[in-house]
Amino acid sequence: MTDIWLEVGFGGGEHLAAQARRHPEIGFIGCEPFVNGVARLLAMVERDRITNLRVFDDDARILLNRLTDASIGRVFILFSDPWPKKRHHKRRFLREETLRSLARVMRGGGALRFATDDMGYVSWTLEHVRRNPDFAWTATCPDDWRRPPPDWVETRYEAKARATERTCIYLDFQRSGRGREDPT
Ligand SMILES: C[S@@+](CC[C@H](N)C(=O)[O-])C[C@H]1O[C@@H](n2cnc3c(N)ncnc32)[C@H](O)[C@@H]1O
Repeated sequence: MTDIWLEVGFGGGEHLAAQARRHPEIGFIGCEPFVNGVARLLAMVERDRITNLRVFDDDARILLNRLTDASIGRVFILFSDPWPKKRHHKRRFLREETLRSLARVMRGGGALRFATDDMGYVSWTLEHVRRNPDFAWTATCPDDWRRPPPDWVETRYEAKARATERTCIYLDFQRSGRGREDPT
């Protein structure tokens, strides 16, 4: 394997399975505690004989705490539960502590992709990521966040959002270079 990529909250697993098929040279880890989602993914894994994918069927934060430093090249967090009510914001996956964990496990130059149809979660994410010196937003023009990136695979939640004419936003961030501890 030339790299390890991680998807957090893969839902029905369509995106994860498609990326794993597209990149046989990459090892994939998918995290999803929702048992029906795991079952759907495993059915695709069996049908398509996907061998470069492992599943962690629990909270991704547990896995993040166990991964070694600079071991992950890409992270996908797609249509993560938005928890729109203010009193529930602290349940959002992408927050200060998680960003610190992601910064630790990601190698310098690694990519973090976040997509959502919740504009409150967009502002929250941009604010939190911009406060973290380990990540930089890579967008250079509005189409970079308004249109799906070139290697995008549509997810189930995204399809639902589009069906109800909700706007989807795509944010790509880059893990900045690391110091001497970076093995890459
Ligand atoms: C709104 S769904 C989106 C699913 C999929 N990414 C998509 O776009 O269709 C969010 C998913 O994240 C999962 N999830 C929520 N918190 C999680 C966590 N801490 N670790 C891993 N998965 C999580 C949920 O079980 C749910 O399947």
